[in-house]
Amino acid sequence: MKPWTINRRGYTLCTFSCMVLLLILITTVFFPPYGSRLPTSLQSKPEQESAETRKIWKLPPMDQRIPINASMSLTPEDEYSGFHDNWTFDTDRDERNFHLSPKQCSIAFPKFYYEIERAVKYRILKGLGRITEQDVDITWREGGGEILRAMIYDKQLYIIDVEWADHGYDVPRAIAILHSINRAVISYPGKLPNIEFALNLSDWPLDPDHRWPLWVFTRHEEDPEKWVVPDFGYWSWPESFMGEYSELRHEIRENEPSWQHKFPKAVWRGAIATNELREELLKKSKNKPWADIKSITWDDKANLKKIGLTIPQHCNYKFVVHTEGHSYSGRGKYLLNCQSVSIVHTPMWLEPHTHLFISEGPNQNIVAVDRNFTNLDSAMKDLLTSPRKAQRIARNSVQTFRDRYLTPAAQACYWRRLFYVWSQISFEPKLFHDVKDQNGQRRRKVRGKPFESFVSEFTLPVKAES
Ligand SMILES: *[C@@H]1O[C@H](CO)[C@@H](O)[C@H](O)[C@H]1NC(C)=O
Ligand SMILES: *[C@@H]1O[C@H](CO)[C@@H](O)[C@H](O)[C@H]1NC(C)=O
Ligand SMILES: *[C@@H]1O[C@H](CO)[C@@H](O)[C@H](O)[C@H]1NC(C)=O
Ligand SMILES: *[C@@H]1O[C@H](CO)[C@@H](O)[C@H](O)[C@H]1NC(C)=O
Repeated sequence: MKPWTINRRGYTLCTFSCMVLLLILITTVFFPPYGSRLPTSLQSKPEQESAETRKIWKLPPMDQRIPINASMSLTPEDEYSGFHDNWTFDTDRDERNFHLSPKQCSIAFPKFYYEIERAVKYRILKGLGRITEQDVDITWREGGGEILRAMIYDKQLYIIDVEWADHGYDVPRAIAILHSINRAVISYPGKLPNIEFALNLSDWPLDPDHRWPLWVFTRHEEDPEKWVVPDFGYWSWPESFMGEYSELRHEIRENEPSWQHKFPKAVWRGAIATNELREELLKKSKNKPWADIKSITWDDKANLKKIGLTIPQHCNYKFVVHTEGHSYSGRGKYLLNCQSVSIVHTPMWLEPHTHLFISEGPNQNIVAVDRNFTNLDSAMKDLLTSPRKAQRIARNSVQTFRDRYLTPAAQACYWRRLFYVWSQISFEPKLFHDVKDQNGQRRRKVRGKPFESFVSEFTLPVKAES
């Protein structure tokens, strides 16, 4: 393998030790050891609501559901006009502009809200009716974990309930995603609707009944009742030290070779145990001249040091292969930040941007292959014999993903559109509930725990004494 490209100013970005650390971490994240950090207690669980206010988890019978008005607007009104009519999204200027108005969000990211509208249409089609309090109740998950219930009221985020899993994996994800939501809330100068929702922190299938309209990081294609949200990696990928999203974008941009200087090969690293299709990828690329595709074994640190790659190093290649793992490809959005051709197998797990993949025509922005990678060889041969086409796909990818739909600004727009649409089809949450004080007197108390208290009082789970 060639040495890591050094940047223009001629210094290596990381010291050797930093690199080794990254190599280990980047690979362990996709198959991390769970056992060593079992939480015994989580201090920041919001105060439980009293038994009377805790709703039973049964959903209302179909005939008692309130129908959704199919002609209601799914686009919020613009309440302020701090921009000219001729405003357009300028990536350099606006990529971290978190206060775009609804109209600016529509101009900048016109095709981004597909999954949100799809979820509404599905409820209408199935007559599921408006979202009720029962829909956002998560007590049914007791013991199972990986889920939280939250509320936005007067532009303040509250955590109503959380059910932690015992592997501790959901904790940093929750912290990251709550910060992401909070950023979308407080950065916006206008009004936001009051809403209450439940968010699934998992990437594992556990809801065979397809019952709950949960917010999820990824949706199985056969889970139409779920609402897809931008995942925790847009804040900072916990556990992996992949880092803060914009930091990674900066490092990619700073170190990325020009197209001509990229390795004309398809790159992939990962554990094959997480998904059978990864094994197929290895088989179908074995001994191919176009392939730099290697499996990684976690325990073999020496080998890891030799063949491991950071995300910015993946961008040194013209072709990057995406694979699903446990479920969606968590690193997919990072790879889409490379000015490279993304090779994507038919997805089963969908994210907010999945529908934006275009696999043919002048706007082609990815190369689609079968889940068994049988046609990968022919796809690669085609790309290598039509370098102009390959470069065009890479350019289109940059335009669509890196410089538009995968900007931090786009994620804030997506969140706020979701808040709005959700509010249009769901109950109005209550800010207060009744509690009894030490003298048995009824008192009105704000429900849940404000985000600020939740994160500042949070103590990391301590490992059980063994
Ligand atoms: C449905 O929404 C439309 C558009 O907002 C409104 O004009 C109409 O009155 C609503 N119908 C009902 C039954 O609420
Ligand atoms: C946009 O409109 C404003 C005000 O009408 C004008 O001053 C500005 O020059 C226009 N910008 C462009 C790029 O057309
Ligand atoms: C959590 O999300 C995953 C991915 O969408 C889904 O498969 C699973 O069923 C969800 N869990 C619950 C408890 O609904
Ligand atoms: C690979 O997948 C494609 C598309 O699903 C299918 O048509 C083909 O038969 C599969 N090939 C093998 C060898 O399994």
